[in-house]
Amino acid sequence: MMDKKNKSTLFDKELLKRYSKPGPRYTSYPTAPMFSEEIGPDDFRNEISKTNDASEPANLSLYFHIPFCDTLCYFCACNMMITHDDDKKERYLGYLKKEIDMIAELTENDRKVSQMHWGGGTPSYLPPSQIVSLGKYIRESFTFDDDAEVSVEIDPRGLTREHLEAFKEIGFNRISMGVQDFDPDVQKAINRIQPEDMTIQVVDWCRELGFESINLDLIYGLPHQSVEKFSKTIKSVIDIKPERIATFNYAHVPWMKKHQTLIKEEWLPSTDEKLKLLNLVIDEFTSAGYEFIGMDHFAFPDDEIVIAQNNGTLHRNFQGYTTKKGCDLVAMGITGISEVGDIYAQNVKTLEEYYEVIDNGELATFKGYKLSKEDKLRKEIIMQLMCHFYLNKTSFGEVNDLIFDEHFSDALEAMEPMEKDGLLEMTDESITVLPVGRLLIRNITMSFDEYLTDKKEKKFSKTI
Ligand SMILES: C[S@@+](CC[C@H](N)C(=O)[O-])C[C@H]1O[C@@H](n2cnc3c(N)ncnc32)[C@H](O)[C@@H]1O
Ligand code: SF4
Repeated sequence: MMDKKNKSTLFDKELLKRYSKPGPRYTSYPTAPMFSEEIGPDDFRNEISKTNDASEPANLSLYFHIPFCDTLCYFCACNMMITHDDDKKERYLGYLKKEIDMIAELTENDRKVSQMHWGGGTPSYLPPSQIVSLGKYIRESFTFDDDAEVSVEIDPRGLTREHLEAFKEIGFNRISMGVQDFDPDVQKAINRIQPEDMTIQVVDWCRELGFESINLDLIYGLPHQSVEKFSKTIKSVIDIKPERIATFNYAHVPWMKKHQTLIKEEWLPSTDEKLKLLNLVIDEFTSAGYEFIGMDHFAFPDDEIVIAQNNGTLHRNFQGYTTKKGCDLVAMGITGISEVGDIYAQNVKTLEEYYEVIDNGELATFKGYKLSKEDKLRKEIIMQLMCHFYLNKTSFGEVNDLIFDEHFSDALEAMEPMEKDGLLEMTDESITVLPVGRLLIRNITMSFDEYLTDKKEKKFSKTI
């Protein structure tokens, strides 16, 4: 476990610059480029059956992908599509309900749901009546734990109090809100006009309606951002006092997301400026009383996510950090990725394909990955380091009946330069990520990734 001292993050600009390179965020291991069409609906169905038959079947974490948005944010790297047609949304929800029927039938009734998340796209871009209708359908199809964590991604633009009332009515207790940056020049360049007052109004409504936790998303590295201007956004966010803050590193991947070419490279902050922005973010939020969890996330010290990090129970999945370790994650809707038993399974990506497979009474899985014994070991190590910045090699070796330093000699060799650079401390017993290495956790964990090749690495966004 980590003591308070090691939780501080030391900012070393030269080191960060030197280590900045493309790398995965490890919401899964192996990562999505390793998924193949060898895994299909039958594998997914069999894996669900297998997990049902376990002596104590894991609880479920449900994810629903709502891909629709009103306008295109030029920076966006999410799986989304623009539409202004409520009938198109209605049709999608009809098919989603058919997928829910299939999944509910497969996962047995006594498997409780301890977590649900709606992501996108923009789930709050559904009209309130559709939100309630989908929510009720899900509640009738699955059995929820009384204290289930139920969260949704919303966009304050175009949102009304009725939307929030609809989410409340169907049991949502956590709200995650896109902000990105309050600066008008930045907002213009990213095609996302969202006045500060609008965000504050929506936060006020959330609090009046009694949502337990509010998260705000920011991005650093956007066009025209500067330390001076971004510090104003940060101050405004601190005044709003959200329970959690995500400050994402802008992933500029125009080779994957063509619309990002609408952001001219010369508008982007230089590497130096971007590092200053990162430094500012960490300084300001930690000075305001937030804890830096790692990988861009901040929360107050009494937040369950910080408590989970301190007591070693934090976990990471496709939605990022979570306190609900050990759930089987079942994703529904286009592009959704499930993590059940030893399998990752991703749904088809287009509406046409989705409607076709569902019409054929088939699950929507089109590719995935089955983890080998070795993959599972490496996944556990990567996730432990990402969540706790610490790994006890001795107990890991004992539990898994192996000699750690021999079994993972490739990774230890890859980490040698990082140890010399002070990113981590390696003893016979453990690996501890040192303060200066916390921002480079992606680089450190990449040492355990057996599948990274230069070609694959280039597909990812930069680690810093
Ligand atoms: C699905 S959106 C959140 C909900 C809603 N669509 C919105 O934008 O308000 C998820 C979040 O991903 C982040 N995001 C999207 N594209 C990104 C990129 N290229 N780099 C870093 N973060 C990105 C944004 O912070 C965004 O709020
Ligand atoms: S950032 Fe959110 S609102 Fe903007 S296009 Fe992406 S998913 Fe839609």
